[in-house]
Amino acid sequence: MSTNSSVNVSVKEGVQAADDIVLDAKGIIVDYPVRGKKPFRAVHGVDLFVRRGETLGLVGESGCGKSTTGKSLIQLPRPTQGEVMLGDLDLSKLSQKELRGVRNRLQMIFQDPIASLNPRRTAQEIVMDSLTLIGHKNPKERALEILQSVGVDRQMASRRPHQLSGGQCQRISIARSIAQEPEVMICDEPVSALDVSVQAQVLNLLEEMKEEYSLSMVFISHDLAVVANISDRVAVMYLGRMCEVAPSTELYSRPRHHYTNLLLDSVPKPGEQRKLKPVQSDSGQVKYDGTGCPFASRCPAATQICKDEMPELKIIGDDHQVACHHPIED
Ligand SMILES: Nc1ncnc2c1ncn2[C@@H]1O[C@H](COP(=O)(O)OP(=O)(O)OP(=O)(O)O)[C@@H](O)[C@H]1O
Ligand SMILES: [Mg+2]
Repeated sequence: MSTNSSVNVSVKEGVQAADDIVLDAKGIIVDYPVRGKKPFRAVHGVDLFVRRGETLGLVGESGCGKSTTGKSLIQLPRPTQGEVMLGDLDLSKLSQKELRGVRNRLQMIFQDPIASLNPRRTAQEIVMDSLTLIGHKNPKERALEILQSVGVDRQMASRRPHQLSGGQCQRISIARSIAQEPEVMICDEPVSALDVSVQAQVLNLLEEMKEEYSLSMVFISHDLAVVANISDRVAVMYLGRMCEVAPSTELYSRPRHHYTNLLLDSVPKPGEQRKLKPVQSDSGQVKYDGTGCPFASRCPAATQICKDEMPELKIIGDDHQVACHHPIED
């Protein structure tokens, strides 16, 4: 299929049903200030949306802008440009005060659970603080209930983060977020810092919480195998841009972008003992002057147009978008 067949289909008609969307980000640009130089653009006009109750995976190699994109959704920091709609509320237009009033609806879980918790508060106090923020009447008891539901008992609830393991701290961090009754949870590499033995437990817990509290989720990881298991749809990023977005099963069985294909090549197939192979080059070392497709210098299918023109993210199939001049044949 050529990209031409999809040119006239609008994203709204072809991919989204508007009332189904909880979070809708458009044209997100994030510039980081650099002393004495022009700002560094980490995210270049990313569009993404999250449907009610779904998990959207966000993958790509280190430095491609996954965390920056995730943080821009919760407006910490605010994106340089672009809008983030939470329901019918445009977060990018809210004042800091108004933003504080709705911040509970979007929660973020970070990679390093111990560092993201207040070292002076016990687990119970950490969750109580969260409940107090939303005006809960009985935060003390409710904190214990929530902690219990994430597998932290009364005894552990009286400990401070440094007296607990990484896995336990991540459970507390999840409890703290859940306490705020969010609609969307953004999980940034939530298990990457944990022992392999506890990674699956924490992933299972996230899935359980998602069901129990009807959450929608953005799940950020550089590990395609993890993302494949947990996500309904997957968005693939490269050098601060989206290159492919598709339902998880479709992306893995029929990738259309050459970069997705390269990433998939490094994932062991079921039953295969092969170790994850790092992708050949790291984003930080790729030379790209801003003209044409950012992946052109590494792409096996690149032609002149790829060097000259930036491909737009276009619909190429059911719920499937790709930014490529020569997508892999269906
Ligand atoms: N606070 C900051 N100031 C300046 N540059 C930053 C800042 N945070 C991130 N960057 C740069 O922005 C780019 C994107 O970083 P980001 O952390 O979003 O990537 P990532 O995809 O999450 O990477 P990783 O997989 O390593 O977590 C990188 O080049 C990074 O060095
Ligand atoms: Mg990151």
